Amino acid sequence: MCGIVGFTGVIPAAPVLLEGLARLEYRGYDSAGIAVFQNHKILIKKACGRLKTLCDLISNGINYDSPTGIGHTRWATHGKPSDDNAHPHRSQDGSFAIVHNGIIENYAMLKRQLQEKGYQFSSETDTEVVAHLLQDNYNGDLFDTIVRTLQMLEGSYALGILNVDHPDELYAVRKSSPLIVGTSNQGNMIASDIPAILPLTRKVYYLNDNEIVRLTKNSVEIFDLQHHLLDRAVTTIDWDVSAAEKGGYEHFMIKEIMEQPKALRDTITPRIKNGQIHLDGIEIDQALLQNIQRINIIACGSAYHVGVVAKYVIEELCRIPVFAEIASEFRYSNPIVDENSLVIIISQSGETADTLAALREAKARGATILSIVNVVGSSIANESKNVLYTWAGPEISVATTKAYSTQLALMYLIALYIAQRLGRVDDTQTSNLLAQIAALPDKVEQILKLAPKIETLAQRYAYLEHAYFIGRNLDYAVALEASLKLKEISYIHSEAYAAGELKHGTISLIEDGTFVAGLACVKRLVAKTMSNIKEVKARGAEVLLLTCEDYDIHSDEVDHILTIPSTHELLMPSLEVVPLQLLGYYVAKARNCDIDKPRNLAKSVTVE
Ligand code: AGP
Repeated sequence: MCGIVGFTGVIPAAPVLLEGLARLEYRGYDSAGIAVFQNHKILIKKACGRLKTLCDLISNGINYDSPTGIGHTRWATHGKPSDDNAHPHRSQDGSFAIVHNGIIENYAMLKRQLQEKGYQFSSETDTEVVAHLLQDNYNGDLFDTIVRTLQMLEGSYALGILNVDHPDELYAVRKSSPLIVGTSNQGNMIASDIPAILPLTRKVYYLNDNEIVRLTKNSVEIFDLQHHLLDRAVTTIDWDVSAAEKGGYEHFMIKEIMEQPKALRDTITPRIKNGQIHLDGIEIDQALLQNIQRINIIACGSAYHVGVVAKYVIEELCRIPVFAEIASEFRYSNPIVDENSLVIIISQSGETADTLAALREAKARGATILSIVNVVGSSIANESKNVLYTWAGPEISVATTKAYSTQLALMYLIALYIAQRLGRVDDTQTSNLLAQIAALPDKVEQILKLAPKIETLAQRYAYLEHAYFIGRNLDYAVALEASLKLKEISYIHSEAYAAGELKHGTISLIEDGTFVAGLACVKRLVAKTMSNIKEVKARGAEVLLLTCEDYDIHSDEVDHILTIPSTHELLMPSLEVVPLQLLGYYVAKARNCDIDKPRNLAKSVTVE
């Protein structure tokens, strides 16, 4: 996510802005900038790269006396990391400067309208559209101008706004994107997150969606869109900086698990419009689709596990052979890939060396490449003609959760997109699936409420030496991810196994007290999976069953049961992975492990 700061007070703004941005660096970003007033104009200084680059460029802001300004660290979503794409953005006549966190979903249409009016754009961002719109709507009444501009926007935004006619005022507004206000006797501040305001104050006002705040050096006024002044109590923050960076959560991992509903909404919503799938302007050549003979999905770790899920989903919907492949194996296997191949690359970081090498190998053999990446401007993104971004925001914890979930969501949309174009699904099937995909964030939100129950259950498993996750079909695909989540942060040896395969050897390891998690969410295979669970129970296993609340399963056949809402069978992985992420997290927490930075692991494995 981007980071926003703004200040107006009785001291120079620039140093306050830079200190605030420094406190937001943990959120991940690729460029930074500030805007302050100077000689009755708005001065903007911004630079791609680390905040230090900007600080060096402006000598830590010591030469600017302006007591009012805004600042920003950008996590690129629309447009690569660059000086031009960095915020703040100014209106064409320089009368407005803004910083933005969020996604303006209708920016392309608004941009065309402004270009037809003669506005020139200097960036690829959705944010610059808002700056020009403010100018275009300006009638001298700043509040009215802002409201009329907001009414034209679709999507999510937290905005900090400066106007050259009001050098002692700072306006801000939020809709589905965080923004808070800090207040002190040195001045008043806006920020995306609490860490940024702690150097100035611990007294904050929380803003709600569709509220506009007007700051001066000695006043904070919060309005609704009808310009009614709202009452708001001040809250005193008692977190330390470390807790504040995690939004009050103990670890980034649990914060990111809890962010999944928002990450899913941000990734899914802009891609389903009027019952149609919009893959960000990507058109997979119809001739290729008609002639396609195979789809290879190539990735590492959890991203590979997404590929395993996608194999089942795409083959079911599209009836095309799909090969989910580990990148480090693919690249040395003399792969059967050619111009009739569609190769889907999945990577959160976009920098995984094995995955990048596999991409290059597939390109060299003539394959059509489609990459799913979370980091704009990353190597894999830059080397892929077709890129779909997960909009999960920065993922700090080494163990991926929200990136995995948003990758799954994009794979469902890709599978349905291909099936539609091949005529393999009818309109009813498509609209039903799209409705269920759109409903995933709310269902995940509901499942997250199981966290306290899972935390209690996890205390039982804190001393395990071995764990097994078993399932069939899509349940097996999720078992792979569940097993990795547990082992990589708790250091408990864990294996995922196809439930039907257990009896071909591995069942010899099952003895009294062996922990087995049975995944039974693929409804048509529940009876088969339950048979396998009985097999391990008969040999003394302690079984935790994960299944759906509306399936008719007798809990007396297992030791513990977790139930979740159901959805279309093909989408069940998105729901069943959530309690298993929580299980891994709480077991590791019970073992006092270094959850966000597990031993021997890196967030991005940039070596072979
Ligand atoms: C998953 O929790 C791990 N952090 C790891 O397996 C990761 O998924 C893998 O290294 C791939 O990373 P990428 O998605 O950035 O390419």
